[in-house]
Amino acid sequence: MVKGNCKVCVTGGAGYIGSSLVKKLLNEGYTVHATLRNLNDQTKVDILKSFPGAEQRLKLFEADMYKAEEYEPAIQGCEFVFHVATPMLHTEGHKHKNMIDATLDGARIIASTCIRSKTVRRLIYTASVMSSSPLKEDGSGNFKDFMDETCWTPLNHPTIDYNHNFLKEYIKAKTLSEKELLSFNNNDVGVGMEVVTLVCGLVGGECLMPYTPGSVTGILSQLLNDEYSHDSLKFMEGLLGKVPIVHIEDVSNALIFCMEAISMSGRFLCTNAYVSNADIASYCQNKYPQYSIKKYLEGPKGETKLGPSLLNEKGFKYEFDWHLVLDDCINNYINKNGDLKL
Ligand SMILES: NC(=O)c1ccc[n+]([C@@H]2O[C@H](COP(=O)([O-])OP(=O)(O)OC[C@H]3O[C@@H](n4cnc5c(N)ncnc54)[C@H](OP(=O)(O)O)[C@@H]3O)[C@@H](O)[C@H]2O)c1
Repeated sequence: MVKGNCKVCVTGGAGYIGSSLVKKLLNEGYTVHATLRNLNDQTKVDILKSFPGAEQRLKLFEADMYKAEEYEPAIQGCEFVFHVATPMLHTEGHKHKNMIDATLDGARIIASTCIRSKTVRRLIYTASVMSSSPLKEDGSGNFKDFMDETCWTPLNHPTIDYNHNFLKEYIKAKTLSEKELLSFNNNDVGVGMEVVTLVCGLVGGECLMPYTPGSVTGILSQLLNDEYSHDSLKFMEGLLGKVPIVHIEDVSNALIFCMEAISMSGRFLCTNAYVSNADIASYCQNKYPQYSIKKYLEGPKGETKLGPSLLNEKGFKYEFDWHLVLDDCINNYINKNGDLKL
């Protein structure tokens, strides 16, 4: 494969994961079609255009998940599509009644557009561990022994009925759209389009965009004393047993690994660690004693373990352990904000 001739589409190319992926794809020599919602957002556009190779091999497109037909020109002619964009807030004024509906409908339209293009060989989705809770389906609140690719969050579980509207909708949106996208998988090897869902843990590390991503604020919430993010982290531990964490570099590398594999389809967990909130707090407290943790999340120590990694079995190697994820979140936050303050 001559990489410069290989066109790859990244939906949500100006987000946290999207921008890191676009930069890496350009570095690797691919031609990239990246989408964002507003081509007049000069800050995002300028950062994307500043990446090495962008002048020759980056083309930007405007598209919104609420009008997912808009992705067609970006997908046309591409061999691989990374579907990274996801609504984080419901936008009124469209046919969709909520964020779940828009995410699911958008995913369906993007997958159909990929098939219609006749050029797309593989669609790779940034799924979330929030769809992979190891909670037992019996409603007991007990966890399975392992968290692995067979785990699906039971959407009618009482735990989900939580007073956090964004997370409630996000979990449903990500779970239903992941299942929907997997249903587009063509199981006849070498025929039609393959679909990979990369089920990412909470992502941390450097963000190329000027903002601090929600997942980084979540990881740092105990240090930042951020009530809202505290709450989300606690909820995440309650839903998943512990908190799966992964470095942004490992996520981008894993996405490209899924693209470059000769043949690959199905669901793959992407996380290098599965730790408790208390573990996160202890590490931060010991390594950064100058910052005091005001609200230490001392939760139950979950017994669930990560199952054998299907991604590792395929040959992928993680480069960053969870301590490095935390260190890079802290350093990046301080570089951007001058201190560890909200
Ligand atoms: N960060 C994590 O810990 C994590 C973990 C697992 C899975 N994921 C998944 O990874 C993907 C990217 O997450 P992120 O952390 O990079 O988030 P992010 O920085 O907040 O980026 C969100 C992206 O979604 C796009 N977006 C939001 N609403 C949209 C809409 N209505 N139509 C089209 N695009 C829209 C944004 O586009 P604009 O630039 O146009 O605003 C942006 O590119 C998501 O699918 C998320 O579920 C993230």
